[in-house]
Amino acid sequence: MALLLLLLLTAFSAALTSADEAFVGVNIGTAVSSMPSPTQVVALLKSQQIRHVRLYDADPGMLAALSRSGILVTVSVPNEQLLAVGQSNATAANWVSKNVLAHYPSVNITTISVGSEVLSAIPNAAPVLVPAMRFLHSALVAANLDRQIKISTPLPSSLILDSFPPSQAFFNRSWDGVILPMLKFLQATESTLMLNVYPYYDYLQSAGVIPLDYALFRPLPPNKEAVDANTLLHYTNVFDAVVDAAYFAMAFLNVTNVPVLVAETGWPSKGDPATEPDATVDNAATYNSNLIRHVLNGTGTPKSPGMVVSAFIYELYNEDLKPGPESERRWGLFDATGKPAYQLSLMGAGEVLANDTAEETFCVARGGADEKMLQAALDWACGPGKVDCGVLLQGKACYDPDTVEAHATYAFNAYYHRMGMAAGTCYFNGVAVVTTTDPSHDSCAFTGSGGKNGTMVNGTSLATAANSTTDSGAPALWERSSAGFFQLAGMLLWSALFL
Ligand SMILES: *[C@@H]1O[C@H](CO)[C@@H](O)[C@H](O)[C@H]1NC(C)=O
Ligand SMILES: *[C@@H]1O[C@H](CO)[C@@H](O)[C@H](O)[C@H]1NC(C)=O
Ligand SMILES: *[C@@H]1O[C@H](CO)[C@@H](O)[C@H](O)[C@H]1NC(C)=O
Ligand SMILES: *[C@@H]1O[C@H](CO)[C@@H](O)[C@H](O)[C@H]1NC(C)=O
Ligand SMILES: *[C@@H]1O[C@H](CO)[C@@H](O)[C@H](O)[C@H]1NC(C)=O
Ligand SMILES: *[C@@H]1O[C@H](CO)[C@@H](O)[C@H](O)[C@H]1NC(C)=O
Ligand SMILES: *[C@@H]1O[C@H](CO)[C@@H](O)[C@H](O)[C@H]1NC(C)=O
Ligand SMILES: *[C@@H]1O[C@H](CO)[C@@H](O)[C@H](O)[C@H]1NC(C)=O
Ligand SMILES: *[C@@H]1O[C@H](CO)[C@@H](O)[C@H](O)[C@H]1NC(C)=O
Repeated sequence: MALLLLLLLTAFSAALTSADEAFVGVNIGTAVSSMPSPTQVVALLKSQQIRHVRLYDADPGMLAALSRSGILVTVSVPNEQLLAVGQSNATAANWVSKNVLAHYPSVNITTISVGSEVLSAIPNAAPVLVPAMRFLHSALVAANLDRQIKISTPLPSSLILDSFPPSQAFFNRSWDGVILPMLKFLQATESTLMLNVYPYYDYLQSAGVIPLDYALFRPLPPNKEAVDANTLLHYTNVFDAVVDAAYFAMAFLNVTNVPVLVAETGWPSKGDPATEPDATVDNAATYNSNLIRHVLNGTGTPKSPGMVVSAFIYELYNEDLKPGPESERRWGLFDATGKPAYQLSLMGAGEVLANDTAEETFCVARGGADEKMLQAALDWACGPGKVDCGVLLQGKACYDPDTVEAHATYAFNAYYHRMGMAAGTCYFNGVAVVTTTDPSHDSCAFTGSGGKNGTMVNGTSLATAANSTTDSGAPALWERSSAGFFQLAGMLLWSALFL
């Protein structure tokens, strides 16, 4: 445990110097009967320290609420608007003007996502897809924003055929006429290939061939690991295999430098018991917890280790108005009231989304954190934060070791427990992390330790500590770097038994 934490902290430190950051964001679908107001949505995002969102449109109310929030936003051209935008340069320019320029830079728009799974959802619009992307791009060029704002379009992973072993994958050749110019466009504009990755459906459709554990990123026995016989690369989860299939499919078309960005991925927490027995709270919590850890670890995929693959979770809210099987309405991390659909377990990864009470957790100073920031956070905790810091005085139980880090750890943890371990209360401007290792020592017992000094729940205010010290630009909890942080372990070659 200690070692794992150390490794993760190392990764965290690297984030401070690298431009290449992995992130996990969320998609915000709005087919919700009592949809929270944009202000409520943004409050939830902030309390959960979610720094990246993708909208399915460019709703002005939502964009107004996101203004000056520090949240990075992907807006979308809905499929209904694609034909108009793709048939007229002037319409595309108007779209950009109304939905992007009118809000930028107070809303930090980073990407325009053009349509959604266009080739499968509205194949008749396929001929205008790349023209739409080009028209939108030229409007950004005209506004001198083409370097800040990128354009892409989410593809369904079903477009990639023969996706296992990944080295044999290729894009459905029927769409060469669209895919080839699209990849050239993404390459020329330094954009990403957006891909929707749903191991849940891959698992469901495989009718037992794909083990559930493989879909959920759970450890597999070595003899169950999937090995690509052509490359001898080992695949420990479906997510990596699908992303690598996209890399190989691009390489087959001689495109090797377009990164994959996962536009949607997730797992439903409920389904029809007869037909969707694996849509459960446990599986959804497992998938999304493991996904977050996997993405933020920044290891990349077996084919492209170190190449960051970021992802947007599908999705923020359960969309109760969606038609179809029960699971369609159960992909959310939260219900419409902002109550978590389940608890994510991100132990050791240093972040907690929603209440995490599955295990006893502690809030400690982040190793290697800037001492001035730690001191400021300590001062805040013992002052406005109302932590009783008497035990830190000379001669008291927690005075030794007399370091800012040790004292801050005591105070952060006391504050975190007083706030009922609510999400966001172990942040302190990025210098605090959650751990399961009890920091108690000698006669200094920490709040939460073995149930002593009880985990009192007093108020559930979220993230009150987030702005407690001056903003120093510390990376948000949902971001990690990858650069330089991977190892090519001397891997044994195991055999693949399935697929
Ligand atoms: C948007 O966010 C990025 C990353 O935090 C930052 O570098 C950039 O300056 C921001 N842009 C605007 C317009 O605020
Ligand atoms: C489209 O409009 C942009 C300005 O928005 C202009 O720079 C560009 O030349 C136009 N492209 C075409 C193909 O008409
Ligand atoms: C490839 O795409 C075409 C056109 O959408 C479709 O008819 C065909 O079934 C696809 N092939 C496969 C193997 O999915
Ligand atoms: C990719 O490159 C190879 C070798 O240069 C060439 O034979 C092939 O036609 C290229 N494929 C495409 C789709 O450009
Ligand atoms: C967190 O847990 C507390 C106590 O169990 C509960 O009152 C509160 O509503 C929870 N907060 C969230 C955001 O679920
Ligand atoms: C924990 O509570 C006990 C009494 O229950 C008290 O003696 C002790 O000082 C407390 N420890 C800390 C670190 O607050
Ligand atoms: C809860 O917090 C309030 C205000 O911070 C305080 O007055 C009250 O005593 C606390 N309740 C408990 C049970 O500690
Ligand atoms: C954080 O900032 C908000 C407004 O920006 C303010 O209302 C709140 O009191 C601040 N919280 C703390 C703990 O300083
Ligand atoms: C994070 O990456 C390291 C180095 O590749 C790896 O050993 C470790 O298992 C990864 N951890 C997780 C949780 O994926």
